[in-house]
Amino acid sequence: IEQPKTIVVIFGATGDLAKRKLFPSIFNLYRKGNLSEDFAVVGVARRDLSSEEFRSSVKESISNKQVSSDKVDTFSEHFHYQSFDVTNPSSYLELKDLLEKLDNTYQTEGNRIFYLAMAPEFFGTIAENLKKEGLTATSGFSRLVIEKPFGHNLPSAKQLNEQIRKAFKEEQIYRIDHYLGKEMVQNIEVIRFANAIFEPLWNNRYIANIQVTSSETLGVEDRGRYYETSGALRDMVQNHMMQMVALLAMEPPIKLTTEEIRSEKIKVLRALRPIKEDEVHDYFVRGQYGKGMQNGGEVESYRDDSNVDDNSITETYVAGKLLIDNFRWAGVPFYIRTGKRMTAKSTKIVVQFKDIPMNLYYGKGEQQQTPNLLVINIQPEEGITLHLNAKKAGQHMQTTPVNLDFCNNCIDGINTPEAYEKLIYDCMKGDATNFTHWDEVALSWNFVDPISNVWESQMATQFPNYESGSMGPKEADQLLARDGFIWWPVS
Ligand code: BG6
Repeated sequence: IEQPKTIVVIFGATGDLAKRKLFPSIFNLYRKGNLSEDFAVVGVARRDLSSEEFRSSVKESISNKQVSSDKVDTFSEHFHYQSFDVTNPSSYLELKDLLEKLDNTYQTEGNRIFYLAMAPEFFGTIAENLKKEGLTATSGFSRLVIEKPFGHNLPSAKQLNEQIRKAFKEEQIYRIDHYLGKEMVQNIEVIRFANAIFEPLWNNRYIANIQVTSSETLGVEDRGRYYETSGALRDMVQNHMMQMVALLAMEPPIKLTTEEIRSEKIKVLRALRPIKEDEVHDYFVRGQYGKGMQNGGEVESYRDDSNVDDNSITETYVAGKLLIDNFRWAGVPFYIRTGKRMTAKSTKIVVQFKDIPMNLYYGKGEQQQTPNLLVINIQPEEGITLHLNAKKAGQHMQTTPVNLDFCNNCIDGINTPEAYEKLIYDCMKGDATNFTHWDEVALSWNFVDPISNVWESQMATQFPNYESGSMGPKEADQLLARDGFIWWPVS
């Protein structure tokens, strides 16, 4: 196992992401032996904390892991804290001294990862100051990890990118899309490129449509303020949903290198048919949840959330149809949908194959065979299901659907690593494959911007238009019905 030596500086170390995802992921890497003792984590945030207090919060965040307290103690010894003002140069100089000291203590050879897990308005300032105050000039590597949102639209994303590029080169920048760290998202390319039975069929001759659903049961929780400026289009579609489409649609890369894979994904995004503002309505549907029943109890509507405007037109649901204008995909719709307060927490991809040329088993007007489906279950179950037709037992020649099932996380003893664990480790090793390149970010903003422009300028008079606990507004069904398709159930 490669055991990278590095210092990780987490900006926003007292925040939710650090506690929920980053500390537990780093701990898992340590516990599994992917990290040696040669690492350190420096938490920086505005709050005044001692390193001892910081360590207690780190320990608390991993307290549900069943491990000896000795291990937890030795782990947390690697954590240090500095209170920080992102606009004050002396904070950077102080941090610089601390990092140099820690480099000696932990033999981290000048390797540094600056992880920005905080409000995006400071991303540019921090990146520039890190360079200006000399924190990136070391004998080892310096990498910048950036959480979303990466801008609010194409112009703001460009501006942010120009700012951080003044201090870091593209290959030093790791833009997180945590969906790319999910085991089954990474499995998409393996299922496609390691199976002789799929790749020959993976095109417009055999595939009727592809559906990508990411539904959530939770509402906006305590993130109403952020979500009001974002909505589902920016929060989920511009990044996670479009990344999954790119992986499903890309050509086989000539090699499994970061550059080759990224370049194939970029080509898909370039081939996306742009949606003109006067066509948005034909391709995209927006929704906002009203009250409804979930888990046996009534839940409030989006507009009733205390951080949300009473007349908010922010969408909490999006369904859309994407077309990829290239040889492989011409004419095949990729449908996506995502929303909050839906029936189930589930991310699934359904590949619907075309009907066979002639149906031998049923006459005109009789029940039809179900099409072959390949279902890639991303979460909560992880696996694949292939829907086939077989003979119904008995005297008649009739068909019945049968499923071939593989469940990844049902196998005893297999505990799939969390997305963040994989991504942090990749970044430590210098593998940027599962991070988004600037070109991908720019192309996907370019695609979604006309949609948000139209939605923001036109009142959503029908909001709320789906009940909490449902699968979204009926217009999303009509979107597929117009093409003769239905959404395949996800739960
Ligand atoms: C995040 C969004 O990027 O993804 C959240 O900001 C959303 O709003 C989350 O809930 C969904 O991630 P997952 O891994 O739970 O599907």
